[in-house]
Amino acid sequence: MPVHEWGRDEYLRRFAHPFWFQSFDAVMGMDWHSSGIATSALRLIGEEKRAIACVWRPQRLRTREVAAANDRPDRRDLKKNTKRHSLAASISVNRPRPSAWEAHPMNEYDLKERVAIVTGGAQGIGLATANRILACGGRVSLWDRDCALLDKTVAGLGKRDRVQGLAVDIADLAAVEGATKATMAHFGKIDILINNAAIVGPNAPTWEYPPQAFRDVVNVGLIGTFYCCRAVVPHMIAANYGRIVNLASIAGKEGNPKAPAYSAMKAGVIGLTKSLGKELATYNIGVNCVTPAVAKTTLAMSQAPDFLAMIVSKIPRGRMLELEEAAAMICWLASAENSFTTGAVFDLSGGRATY
Ligand SMILES: NC(=O)c1ccc[n+]([C@@H]2O[C@H](COP(=O)([O-])OP(=O)(O)OC[C@H]3O[C@@H](n4cnc5c(N)ncnc54)[C@H](O)[C@@H]3O)[C@@H](O)[C@H]2O)c1
Repeated sequence: MPVHEWGRDEYLRRFAHPFWFQSFDAVMGMDWHSSGIATSALRLIGEEKRAIACVWRPQRLRTREVAAANDRPDRRDLKKNTKRHSLAASISVNRPRPSAWEAHPMNEYDLKERVAIVTGGAQGIGLATANRILACGGRVSLWDRDCALLDKTVAGLGKRDRVQGLAVDIADLAAVEGATKATMAHFGKIDILINNAAIVGPNAPTWEYPPQAFRDVVNVGLIGTFYCCRAVVPHMIAANYGRIVNLASIAGKEGNPKAPAYSAMKAGVIGLTKSLGKELATYNIGVNCVTPAVAKTTLAMSQAPDFLAMIVSKIPRGRMLELEEAAAMICWLASAENSFTTGAVFDLSGGRATY
């Protein structure tokens, strides 16, 4: 159907997909003459944010203008189009849109009825991964130490029979063992373990780094990941099936300056992945890790602005990783189709990694 024939329902059907909206900082409804909303869009662009302006009466648009604005969504085009009162049906601004989930339908992974633990699943990459697992017919046990956020997230997901939320501090072995038992009791099996929870710590050079902060970063991200593997792997061995995906980081491969604890912890996660992968290689259990570059999450945004600017500037793609892009790779690694590769490190660095 050509765009100028879309009615409001068709428009919503195409653009009200949660993945689409999550990638924008603001979503604005507008009609043909709403230059006020267009002005707000321009202000957001000035603040380096992404906005989508939705025109509820797209039948009045000329198809050529829609295509032009979508193809060249920079500030000048938006201004020009705004002036002419011919704003496109959708205008994404400021940064190139990720193409994987924009232009193509999502692949459906073979996760039907699989049971996955996602640590740190109350938000960020963990939540995006949980969403994708659910979208593929799986079930998830979200483990997170932020109880209030976890409750909100679980309530928001709204799939009571397929989602379990457990308040767990993964740096506490007894709590991890208890949560493993609770997951088994609830779902009867554990097919997938996504070791995602971590903290990043402050930014400081090694010789000034607070010792307790270093211990905390390693305790959660590395020791916690070890605890989760330790508790869950025996159940996978008993079932002769399992997929483990550990969240490492490009920092673990390259080492980021002023992030010694995080870099060392993530290098440790890579080493643990390789070791465990070999130990479990003769079972139908795969253990792999991913090494993302920076994505816009609470963890990433807690770092110093100059540090953030430095790590974004290192990404050849010229933008941050989208959460859904991370989830896509994680979920394929967690699927049965990933039946051979184990003990491996998968890049998610937008071209930054050289090995
Ligand atoms: N966001 C990035 O830029 C980025 C880049 C590379 C790697 N990673 C890795 O991806 C993973 C997810 O990161 P994110 O950015 O989505 O983080 P996030 O801060 O958005 O979410 C992490 C979640 O983990 C939970 N958590 C923290 N400590 C915990 C503990 N001890 N026990 C249980 N839960 C705990 C937090 O409450 C939070 O909900 C992390 O391992 C992170 O190191 C992130």
